[in-house]
Amino acid sequence: MNNFHKIIAFKTKEAATNFALKKWGDISKYSVAKNGRFTVAISGGNTPLDLYRKLGMRKNLPWEKTHIFLVDERYVPFFHEASNLRMIRKNLIENINIPQINIHPINTAEDTPEASAIKYEAELKSFFGLQEHEFPVFDLILLGIGADGHTASLFPGADALAEQKRLAVAVDNDRNADKRVTLTLAVINNAKNIIFLVTGKHKAHVMKEIIEEYNSQLPAASVKPKNGELFLILGECYS
Ligand code: 6PG
Repeated sequence: MNNFHKIIAFKTKEAATNFALKKWGDISKYSVAKNGRFTVAISGGNTPLDLYRKLGMRKNLPWEKTHIFLVDERYVPFFHEASNLRMIRKNLIENINIPQINIHPINTAEDTPEASAIKYEAELKSFFGLQEHEFPVFDLILLGIGADGHTASLFPGADALAEQKRLAVAVDNDRNADKRVTLTLAVINNAKNIIFLVTGKHKAHVMKEIIEEYNSQLPAASVKPKNGELFLILGECYS
């Protein structure tokens, strides 16, 4: 038993990326046709680099009606090489015709990661017009999975995994000694579509554990959309 609604495994990373590209195109066009906008939260990491580059070449996607949020961010200045915003800007945003106002970064210029999380939460509440205790409904959330089973900046054993009220929280990642801000599972699981894009042989072990053994201890295994669709797109890491 596992909680994945759709597992699509490809032999190559390229084929997995191309499938994710197609899903993004379909979901964005559908969302704009239905609601006049497409809201997406995207992740950092190495895996989605090619996807972002390819998206950057798709001039026919509805970029003017697309709103890009971040799933998580390292608490570093935006010009730092570890900044997700920097990577996403360079590979995607700089190459598309998207209004600046449609980009919703996690601001790391606040005094503390906690202050940054509170500010991001306020931005989400205002953009989505949320009342107290409501959660945003993203059209799409794009996630990766780390070899240890983490997703977003939700690491195994972290307190943040149990958070049920907040939209974004600060995280102290002891393993890497870095501080981050992340969307919570409550937000992730409220999305209409969730795509996990996972590639490479080094992830085969963790994917096997998640898919076949359903290790609920792993953060990625706690991603279970309440009403949405979940796509696990794999390249070169599961057969
Ligand atoms: C980040 C992420 C993180 C990432 C995984 C996988 O900002 O790093 O959001 O959850 O998706 O660590 O990273 P790779 O794609 O580099 O393997």
